[in-house]
Amino acid sequence: MTSNSIWIDKEPVPRFPQLTEDKEFDVVIIGGGITGITAAQLLSAYGFKVAVLEAGLIAQSNTGRSTGNLYVMVDSLLSDLLNKYSYDELRKVFDSRLKAKNLIEENIKKFDIQCDYREVDWVRFSMSAEMDHLIYDEFETFKELGFFPEVMRSTDERISSLGGRVGVKVAGQAQFNPYLYVTQLAEKISSKCSIFENSRVTDFHKEDNQWIVKTNQARIYAKHLIEGTHTPIGFSLLQTLLGPYREYAFASSYEGQFDPGIYWGHLKKDEVISFRNYFKDDKQFVLFVGGDYKVGQGDGIDSLKKIKALASELDLKIDERYQWGGQHYRSADLLPYIGQKDGQDTYVATGFSTNGLIYGTLAAQIISDQIAGMENKFSQLFSPKRITPVKSMKSFISENVNVVKQYVVDYLSSSHDENLRPGEGKIIDIKGHKIAACKNSNDELFVCSAVCPHLGCVVHWNKAESSWDCPCHGSRFNFEGEVIEGPSLHPLDRLEGD
Ligand SMILES: Cc1cc2nc3c(=O)[nH]c(=O)nc-3n(C[C@H](O)[C@H](O)[C@H](O)COP(=O)(O)OP(=O)(O)OC[C@H]3O[C@@H](n4cnc5c(N)ncnc54)[C@H](O)[C@@H]3O)c2cc1C
Ligand code: FES
Repeated sequence: MTSNSIWIDKEPVPRFPQLTEDKEFDVVIIGGGITGITAAQLLSAYGFKVAVLEAGLIAQSNTGRSTGNLYVMVDSLLSDLLNKYSYDELRKVFDSRLKAKNLIEENIKKFDIQCDYREVDWVRFSMSAEMDHLIYDEFETFKELGFFPEVMRSTDERISSLGGRVGVKVAGQAQFNPYLYVTQLAEKISSKCSIFENSRVTDFHKEDNQWIVKTNQARIYAKHLIEGTHTPIGFSLLQTLLGPYREYAFASSYEGQFDPGIYWGHLKKDEVISFRNYFKDDKQFVLFVGGDYKVGQGDGIDSLKKIKALASELDLKIDERYQWGGQHYRSADLLPYIGQKDGQDTYVATGFSTNGLIYGTLAAQIISDQIAGMENKFSQLFSPKRITPVKSMKSFISENVNVVKQYVVDYLSSSHDENLRPGEGKIIDIKGHKIAACKNSNDELFVCSAVCPHLGCVVHWNKAESSWDCPCHGSRFNFEGEVIEGPSLHPLDRLEGD
């Protein structure tokens, strides 16, 4: 499949230099997605000397692969959140998200960012009878939480044309082009901070109260370190509380009438497909996202087939253009982890699920206030220090049993089938060593160790994206073994010879 998101269709070029010499800053931020760039904006406004180190190019990772929906509510059903949180706690979550959404809107005005921002309704609807009552429950709970929801019936074309039965609608949410927002924000703030692209961090540690952050070419010394990397990099105990998920999206050109909005259709409780439209060069596209599975444990091609089949059942005459994959990390208690685990630690921002354009902005607000010594009333709610055994235990156990199962099953299973076609990858057992072998479309062979350098699980071939994906904590590597994303700081070991 192509892996272009609808936001990034031209070959992007670097906007910022590489880090080539050692430098000293007050704060170093690893990662140039929405979290890292917003944190750089806020910290430089506080007067700190800030550097951003981005492994690739700004906003090209999950921020540029999202669907650009900005909503105060979250992807989880309110009934699931109410099993873990009180009404007051949920009001605080939504209040924090509203403040982050407001910052995005202020930035768009203040910096005159051209990112196709528009206000829209948010709609959650049932696509099967078994989901109807959940939608009615959502409506009642939204009222209780102080929103002004409206019920939508099957007679409402907005949902019936998408295969919907009943829905709940909340007005006043928004959509934009996430890639344009973050790249333009980075350009607008670049006179106040230092941004480096193509500068992957390969190691960091603390010495004499100072962080030393290394790239292949140089190092940065800084008092504070923020991991704006979507998930903590290197080893972190937080990884035991995070489930990495991969999902797929595609955009189809569409000439019919499509009411703008953020639409989430529920086939089943955990089977959701999301829709929105977008005008690009005066042509309308409809975007579909869904079919998530645990990284390295599913099949992207099947996943895409599933959402395409569903999309083709709807009354939308689709004509595929762009298709792409993205990743999200779910926390054990459904809220993100934002801040330091202890006073000596790095600042982290993770566990956003699919709500990270707002949570990433919120993380930047919380962390920059913490570094500046300012009070932030949401710090505690999202603190990575929170201990929530009752809320987290079920998910913690299932995620970690799953990780152990991956270790055991992958090390016991073996294949001696060494025949590879172009575009194919296989794990091959040679004298007890797990080898990741694949061929590119020119029939060239690439051979690496299949052992993930993060914590030693065996990677799996992802044929939809021609990548090696680790089923344990979500590291991904390209066919040459280079890191694409996830916690691993190092590539797969490249093996030479026959
Ligand atoms: C298909 C899909 C649709 C989504 N749609 C929405 C949506 O509509 N609304 C919403 O709110 N959320 C959405 N999300 C979630 C959202 O995209 C993410 O949560 C959000 O973009 C995370 O931003 P981030 O800056 O934290 O991470 P990223 O955008 O992933 O940025 C992290 C950056 O860190 C860099 N990095 C990593 N390791 C290193 C290293 N060692 N050295 C240097 N740099 C490094 C990466 O290259 C990357 O650029 C969606 C997610 C997916 C997968
Ligand atoms: S990502 Fe942790 S072992 Fe691979």
